[in-house]
Amino acid sequence: MITIAVTGKGGTGKTVVAGMLIRYFVNKGMTVLAIDSDPDSNLADVLGVEVEKTVGDMREFMLEERDAMPPDSNKEAIFEAKIYEVMVEEEYDLLVMGRPDGPGCYCYVNNLLRGIMDRIMHNYDVVVIDTSAGLEHISRKLIRDVDYVLVVADASKRGVKTAQRIKELSSKLDIGIGKLYLILNKVNESNRDKMMKEAEEIRIDVIGTIPFDSRLAELDLKGEPIHTHLSSYEVVSQIAERLINERNL
Ligand SMILES: Nc1ncnc2c1ncn2[C@@H]1O[C@H](COP(=O)(O)OP(=O)(O)O)[C@@H](O)[C@H]1O
Ligand SMILES: [Mg+2]
Repeated sequence: MITIAVTGKGGTGKTVVAGMLIRYFVNKGMTVLAIDSDPDSNLADVLGVEVEKTVGDMREFMLEERDAMPPDSNKEAIFEAKIYEVMVEEEYDLLVMGRPDGPGCYCYVNNLLRGIMDRIMHNYDVVVIDTSAGLEHISRKLIRDVDYVLVVADASKRGVKTAQRIKELSSKLDIGIGKLYLILNKVNESNRDKMMKEAEEIRIDVIGTIPFDSRLAELDLKGEPIHTHLSSYEVVSQIAERLINERNL
């Protein structure tokens, strides 16, 4: 199993990159679990699927119902079945984490969820996680052991700065994070040099440079999902290929 988290500042293109990685691995014949752990979640839209309920909804259910369950019931098994209920099954499987913890006490349900997520993730060749710059569920250890963190940055103000913050955050997390790479996105002639220079300054290896893709931008305006006939997809494929090779998969 290989776990890849795609992160970065909002609007930089992390969901597009995550969606393209998912498409690529599926086309390669690998089994893929997609996890949307960004509170501003839009992975389902980019993939062109509908999601009704989230893992967060199921966690609320467990929180509300667990005291009413018979004392000898297997709460973990019930919770796990609930997670499978909200899983969207396509050529890949998709879980949307949904709302963050509310004010109640989530320790018990989160402990259960941790184990369940671990178990589910191990059923796949690849797990691709779309997550915000706060590394959401990774920093709270609901998702553990990430092999790669791909930080997407664009030329916007603080795009690359945010990458640096993520680097600092991920080095502080006491979970196994394998390797951190930077992806420069929406690159064109006028911003290329500046972005490369900024990337060098923060000392994160650049694994790919995705050009500004006007056809991709158009799709988004029309509310249409991504597809594989895009120049940006070519670059994301090369990134995916490199990760596969690094891991000898
Ligand atoms: N290489 C690119 N070229 C042109 N537009 C892009 C590119 N990558 C992403 N976009 C556009 O940028 C916007 C934000 O992308 P999105 O993946 O939703 O960002 P995030 O998930 O980081 O908030 C979308 O409108 C998307 O179509
Ligand atoms: Mg997004």
